[in-house]
Amino acid sequence: MIKIRGLKKSFKTRQGQVEALRGIDLDIGEREFFVQLGPSGCGKTTTLRCVAGLEKADQGEIEIGGATVSSPEKGIYVPTEKRDIGMVFQSYAIWPHMNVFQNVAFPLVKGRRQIPKHQVAEKVSEALKLVQLAGLQDRPATDLSGGQQQRVAMARAVVTEPRILLMDEPLSNLDARLREQMRLELRKITHSIGVTTLYVTHDQAEALSLGDRVCVMNEGEILQIGSPKEVYSQPKNLFAAQFVGEMNFIRGRLCGDGQVESPFGKLRCALPQGCQSGHEVTLAIRPEHLTLRPCAAGSGGIEAKVSSKNYLGDAALLEVEACGVNLRGKLAGDADFAVGEKAVLVLPADRWSVYA
Ligand SMILES: Nc1ncnc2c1ncn2[C@@H]1O[C@H](COP(=O)(O)OP(=O)(O)OP(=O)(O)O)[C@@H](O)[C@H]1O
Ligand SMILES: [Mg+2]
Repeated sequence: MIKIRGLKKSFKTRQGQVEALRGIDLDIGEREFFVQLGPSGCGKTTTLRCVAGLEKADQGEIEIGGATVSSPEKGIYVPTEKRDIGMVFQSYAIWPHMNVFQNVAFPLVKGRRQIPKHQVAEKVSEALKLVQLAGLQDRPATDLSGGQQQRVAMARAVVTEPRILLMDEPLSNLDARLREQMRLELRKITHSIGVTTLYVTHDQAEALSLGDRVCVMNEGEILQIGSPKEVYSQPKNLFAAQFVGEMNFIRGRLCGDGQVESPFGKLRCALPQGCQSGHEVTLAIRPEHLTLRPCAAGSGGIEAKVSSKNYLGDAALLEVEACGVNLRGKLAGDADFAVGEKAVLVLPADRWSVYA
């Protein structure tokens, strides 16, 4: 539904040229919920604004529903209002001088659209029902909570039944609990109306829980595209590994026999391509993949000492020291280990990722 090829965009600033997008390629399927994830300044908003037509790209093509909407090379630029999109921004951009109804109705009555009054009322009331705000339509926009304002912004974005919904960090102004609740609702709403969604966030938990697919971006480039599971369990490079979820990182060196020399001895794990014997590499393992056993229970594993413990209710975060290395572990339940206690650490070979 959205096809992006070789998208480039730079800005002139007083400090010189900033390359916000360095050649982005993306294919987003019909009805897909696609999340762009990356740190501040990596080019997420710029991508979204180019798709929306709020920013003119320098190079590359953008197609929506098979039609080219932007191509500087071919001299094509379709204005925002003709791209059939709905948008929700971080700031919501709700008009304080209007009530809820007027805010949601705005896209239907602005410009040259001639929609009969009764139809406007019908569409607004449907959109408000969808975001569970039915009954609040006469309320002044200023008398709404943050979560309610977010819903009004959502209703306003979908009231025209757009083919594409663009959302730029729409939940970041909400408190943690409301944010989680709204995540679930957002997914329900977009799936129920079957709209293709491009969603931007720097919050990895949000990206993993919302996206059908996720792309990880950094410095104007896409580093990885995949399902949330793929992106989490097989980060393609060190940046993606550092940015998505938590990881332990340790230095290692590639041996001639294809194993990796580490502080824990030689490890046999999948190696990155092009790595040669003697190369320094980074080994990475997730906290939940560490296992601790009581010292008495059989042989094998690595001698370790628990140096801190943080009980979370359903799990415990432990810091363990082994072979001169500090590792973070996440164990299910209350993890029957006390601070200072010795334990046997197991690091499964197939859980390591190796980065050149
Ligand atoms: N209008 C502009 N003028 C100059 N530089 C800009 C402009 N818009 C964006 N940039 C620069 O382009 C880069 C990408 O910005 P962008 O807003 O796309 O990042 P982002 O990923 O959305 O970040 P954030 O998570 O902070 O919103 C940044 O270096 C930013 O400073
Ligand atoms: Mg942004």
